[in-house]
Amino acid sequence: MGMGMGMNRMMRYSNDVPKAKMTKELLLRIGQYYLPYWKRLALMIAAVLISSALGLVPPILTANIIDQALPQKSMSLLALLTIASFVATMGAALIRVGEMYLNTWVSKHIIYDMKNKMYNHLQYMSIRFFSQTKSGDIITRLNSDIDGIERVFSGTLLSIMRDAFVLGLTAVTLFTLNWKLAILALVIPPLFVSPTKKVGQARWRIASQIQKKLADLNSQIQETLNISGNMLIKISTRENQEYQRFKETNKDITSLQIYESVVGRWFQMVVQAFTTLGPNLIYFYGGYLYFQGELSVGTIVAFVALLNRLYRPVGQLSNIHIDIARSMALFERIFEYLDMDHEIKDSPNAIAMPAVQGEVEFEHVYFSYTADQETLKDISFRVEPGQLTALVGLSGSGKTTITYLISRLYLPHSGVIRVDGQDIRDVTLESLRSQIGVVTQDTYVFNATIKENLRYSKEDATDDELVEASKVANIHDFIMELPEGYDTLVGERGTRLSGGEKQRLSIARAILKDPRILIFDEATSSLDSVSEVLIQEAIDPLLKGRTSIVIAHRLSTIMAADQILVLDEGQVVESGTHDQLVTHGGLYQTLYQKQFKPNNSLSSQ
Ligand SMILES: Nc1ncnc2c1ncn2[C@@H]1O[C@H](COP(=O)(O)OP(=O)(O)OP(=O)(O)O)[C@@H](O)[C@H]1O
Ligand SMILES: [Mg+2]
Repeated sequence: MGMGMGMNRMMRYSNDVPKAKMTKELLLRIGQYYLPYWKRLALMIAAVLISSALGLVPPILTANIIDQALPQKSMSLLALLTIASFVATMGAALIRVGEMYLNTWVSKHIIYDMKNKMYNHLQYMSIRFFSQTKSGDIITRLNSDIDGIERVFSGTLLSIMRDAFVLGLTAVTLFTLNWKLAILALVIPPLFVSPTKKVGQARWRIASQIQKKLADLNSQIQETLNISGNMLIKISTRENQEYQRFKETNKDITSLQIYESVVGRWFQMVVQAFTTLGPNLIYFYGGYLYFQGELSVGTIVAFVALLNRLYRPVGQLSNIHIDIARSMALFERIFEYLDMDHEIKDSPNAIAMPAVQGEVEFEHVYFSYTADQETLKDISFRVEPGQLTALVGLSGSGKTTITYLISRLYLPHSGVIRVDGQDIRDVTLESLRSQIGVVTQDTYVFNATIKENLRYSKEDATDDELVEASKVANIHDFIMELPEGYDTLVGERGTRLSGGEKQRLSIARAILKDPRILIFDEATSSLDSVSEVLIQEAIDPLLKGRTSIVIAHRLSTIMAADQILVLDEGQVVESGTHDQLVTHGGLYQTLYQKQFKPNNSLSSQ
C-alpha cells in the first residue's frame, strides 16, 4: 500500500525540533506592535480576567446547592443559587464576545500594519536584492509568514494569559475548599505533562514537514504553471517528469496529513485518560474524607467540576513552547527582511535636483556586481546636453550596467557620476530618476490595459496625449487594430505583444515622460525589417533635442551619434565619431565589419 510506504519514509524525515529562541529583545520588539493599540489591549486583558474568574463561580454555587439548598429544602435559596449560576455563566459568555472582538481587532490591525510596513520596506530594496532573491520567498514572507504570526497576537499570548490566570485562581480555590483534596488534584497534572509534551512535539514535527512539502508543491506550481515555465516544459517535453515530481510531493503530504491526524487523536486519548483518572481519584479519596466527616458532598462535586478548569490549561501550557518557537521562527524571518538596509537611499542632506540641462559625466568609475569580478573599470566620459552618445561593444561588455549607474540603480565602488556637474549621490533619488527616461532592453509591462501601462510614466496624461505619444512611437495603428484598442489587456508580462510592439510601447511611455536625459537600450534580438523601420521612426523624434545615451546595435543610430564609446570587458577602449573610428583599425572597425555594416549576414536587409 502506497500510503503505508509513505509513512515509513516519513518517519525517517528530519528531527528538527523548533530552534528559534525567545529572547528579551525579540519580545520587546514584538511588544512594540501592540503600542498603538494599548487601550484596547488593556480592556481585553480586563475582560479575560473577569470572564475567567466568573467561570469559577458555577462550581462553587453547585456545592452550595448540594450542601445547603437541598438539605434545607429551601426553594428560595435554590432559586437564588441556580439563577446566580446561570447569570455568572451567561455573563462570562457575553464578556467573551467582547473579548473576542477586541482580540481580533487588535491582532488584525497589527497584521495590517506589518504587511504595509513590509511592502513599503521591500519596495525600496535595491535592484541587487531583487536580482538575488526568489520572488516566491518574498511572497511567502509578506503573506504566509505574517499571516502565521497572527496566531501569536490573537491566540498564543491570550491563551498563556488566560491559562495561567485560570490555573492560579483554580488552585487557590481548591485549597480554600479542602487542602488535602487540593494536593491530590495538583499531583495529577505533572503526570500528564510529559506525555502531552511528547505528542505535541511529534505533531509539531509533522506539521513542519507538511509545511516544507507544501512549500515545495507551491514553488513547483509557481514555476511550471505559468507561460514561460510551461513553454519550457513543452519544448523540453518534460510533462511526465514534472507530473511524477508533483505526484511524489503530493503523496508525501497526504501520508503526513493522515499521520498528523492520528497523532492528534493520540493527544486527545492521553488527555482523556487523565481527565477520567482525575475525577475518579477525587471521588475515591474525597469519598473517604466524607466518611471521616471532613468533607461535604457539595465540595466533592465542586472539586470535580473545577478539575476540568485545572487540567485544560495545564495541557495547553505544556505545549505552548512549541507554538512560541514556531512563531519566533516566523518573527525571525520577518524581521530579517525588515532589518535589511536599503542599499541605495537618499543621503541625509540630499537636495532635489533642479530641472536638468542634460550633461552627464563619468569620472574614473569602477563597479562590480560580485566580489570576484570587475564589471566596469575606470570609465570616464562626458556627454554634452542634447548630444547623442552611442555605446557599442560585445555582449557582456558592460553597456547596460553603465546605464544602471546613471539612474543610481547600483552604486559605483569608486569614481563619480555627475549630471549637470552635480554628483548624483547628493541629490534625491526621486528628483534624479524623474528626469531620466529609460527604455530597457527587455521591456516590462504590467498585466493591465495598454492605457494603464502608458500612464505608468505620466499618471495624469490625457487620452489625447496617449494617442499623440503612441502615434510618434509608431504603435497607435497597431493598438487601434486590437479588439478593445487602448483598453486591451496586454496579458501576463505582456505576452499578447511581440517584442517589437512592447519596445514601441515603452518608447511611447518615454515620450510621455518627456525627460531631458534618455537612455535607450536597443533590443539585441534581431527584428524583421518592418519592425526595424517602425522602431527607427519611433526613436528619431524621441532622441531629438535631449541628451541621449543609446546602446546601439543599428548602424543608423550609430552613424547619427555625436560620440561613440566602444566598450570591451568593462573598459572604454575607443571613443569618437563613426568617421573617426571606422578607419582606426580597432575594435570598432571590427564590429563595423562584422555587425553594423549593411549587406552582411547579421544585419537585416
Ligand atoms: N545582476 C548581475 N549580477 C552579476 N553579474 C551581472 C549582473 N548583471 C550583469 N552582470 C554581468 O555583468 C557583465 C556586464 O553585463 P551588461 O548587462 O552590462 O552587458 P551588456 O554589455 O549590456 O551586454 P548585452 O549586449 O548582452 O546586453 C556581464 O558579464 C554580466 O554577466
Ligand atoms: Mg545589455
